Amino acid sequence: MCGIIGFTGKQQAKPILLDGLRQLEYRGYDSAGYALGGNETPTQIRRVAGSVQDLVNATLEDTSIEHYGIAHTRWATHGAPNETNAHPHQAGLITLVHNGIVENYSELKTKLEAKGIRFLSQTDTEVYAQLLEEKRKEVLSQRASDWTKISNEEKESIVMEALRACAKEVDGHYAVLFLVDGVNDTLFGLQEGAPLVATEANGSAYIASDLQALLKYRSEMTFIPKGKVLIAARGHLRLFDASSGKAETPKFEKIEWTAEKVEKEGYETFMLKEIFQQPMVVADTLSGRLPIQESSGFIWDHLKAHEVLWKNVKRLQLVACGTSYHAAMIAKYYFERWAKLETQVDIASEYRYRSPVFEPGTVVGVISQSGETADTLAALRLANESGASTFSICNVPTSTIARESGFQYPTKAGPEIGVASTKAFTGQLTVLCALALDVGRLRGVKSDGAISFQGLARLPHDCDQILQNSKEWIELGAKLSTKKMTLFVGRGTLYPVALEGSLKMKELTYLPSEGFAAGELKHGPIAYLDPEVAVIVLAPKDELYAKTMSNLEEIKSRGAMLIGIGTVGDSKLQETSSAFIGLPQCSLGTLPILAAIPLQLIAYGAAKALGRNIDRPRNLAKSVTVE
Ligand code: G6P
Repeated sequence: MCGIIGFTGKQQAKPILLDGLRQLEYRGYDSAGYALGGNETPTQIRRVAGSVQDLVNATLEDTSIEHYGIAHTRWATHGAPNETNAHPHQAGLITLVHNGIVENYSELKTKLEAKGIRFLSQTDTEVYAQLLEEKRKEVLSQRASDWTKISNEEKESIVMEALRACAKEVDGHYAVLFLVDGVNDTLFGLQEGAPLVATEANGSAYIASDLQALLKYRSEMTFIPKGKVLIAARGHLRLFDASSGKAETPKFEKIEWTAEKVEKEGYETFMLKEIFQQPMVVADTLSGRLPIQESSGFIWDHLKAHEVLWKNVKRLQLVACGTSYHAAMIAKYYFERWAKLETQVDIASEYRYRSPVFEPGTVVGVISQSGETADTLAALRLANESGASTFSICNVPTSTIARESGFQYPTKAGPEIGVASTKAFTGQLTVLCALALDVGRLRGVKSDGAISFQGLARLPHDCDQILQNSKEWIELGAKLSTKKMTLFVGRGTLYPVALEGSLKMKELTYLPSEGFAAGELKHGPIAYLDPEVAVIVLAPKDELYAKTMSNLEEIKSRGAMLIGIGTVGDSKLQETSSAFIGLPQCSLGTLPILAAIPLQLIAYGAAKALGRNIDRPRNLAKSVTVE
């Protein structure tokens, strides 16, 4: 979703801001803009509805040499995605960008309008900017100061006080970054629940909503904690507590990701690169964690704390959104079968608004690639406040969810840029598979042979084998792009895989698609089967093979195009289907991980044939930071 970037320092700000916006594009957005601070002149803003490239093209004549400014990519929430609603927004001397939502914006707007303030946009952001400007004027008049005559320090202190007063009146989870005419070379920020990260390098200071935009400048970063004000000027970052106003020392952390990792490296899209990285993701995620022998446990960081977490567990609640929710659904099968542990799975936006029961022995696990999804974070906070033991499975170890969870089981997928998640899902399932096996061991559950650590160890090789046929699946996807819709069905762990295949299809192609448990076919979807519908049936030779095969006949007799995904060499499935995908012989535990890969490639092929923007599908955002 929205992305923020800010710079103040020795270089020309505009190219740095535009480059930062490019790094944030993957989050999803529909308009973009920047503001350059002029020490002697009023701040100028430039905005467009459209892409960062549109902004670049529209501002070619702007050769300003200003050395500080802010920029933003907006994903519309309040107000249509047009130029007027794009950030930055201005109110008097304030120019501001914002991520998140001002929940009480309507009430604040009414009050400000009653004072005669006129709004130009429909955004909650402009309300913030106007309120802040009002507060600045109030503090100025209380101090009986003349803005044009006071020092930079005094102005800074007035803005700080105004910002703290503004924060008290605003409800919501958000971050703002702004500059104020007359406070030379200075940027102000406030973290109130949406991430802000910053760094200093060679006399310049950089601020962003996502570390990806800053990786090229320095690998030591400071994550601004919630409730803190940030002031950046002349290459230095200063931190203050928003409630007390007291100065604090920013803590810098070394980030292991490198800027090189976020390039396409010869692939036509980030998504394709990420699909092909999956064998490596599994290997990296398991590296150093596999048990030394069958009877010993997985080697997690902080092993003692891991054992304490699971010692008295009675039930598990897994909570997530989107693709991560599908990983949680698969994990329910893992935990119930191998750890004999009652497992409940919830969509985070539902979980947070019902009344989940936290009896003693409840462990809550949240799963999130980004670690910033608003609903998942709220669910984690609810569980933490209720005294449950919590853990996270995140791909960004520095994210808010990772930091606020009681225990972390990180995935090692590296930065995922494609909006449609692929390698992060595989990383999540790898951790969940290993974790369920290990919890089973800790609970003394005897293995039923459905998975072993050897099965996991050969998973990178099995993923590789599937990718050998990628061309075929992409071509198959192109054929499906002409169908009215695609239905995905499976049983057991392959039911959530069917849901995931369908999610990939609709995210990337914008075509209707559904995922169903194969046994539910007769309870609805069979009604719309006809020759214009394609059905992808996941039917490997497992315990449920015979059941799924009978569903297959039902589909065929309705004339739908049938695609069978099953065990390599299954001639029966091959003969019944119009197209067949053979999965390598593998254990039941790794099957869902392997079966998801052809579905990613099929959706990819369909989207490519339709000429869709594969890395950034319309209306979607990578990191959903508002509910
Ligand atoms: C968005 C993304 C999905 C992702 C979901 C949950 O919808 O487009 O790819 O699965 O958010 O995100 P998370 O970062 O919490 O896994």
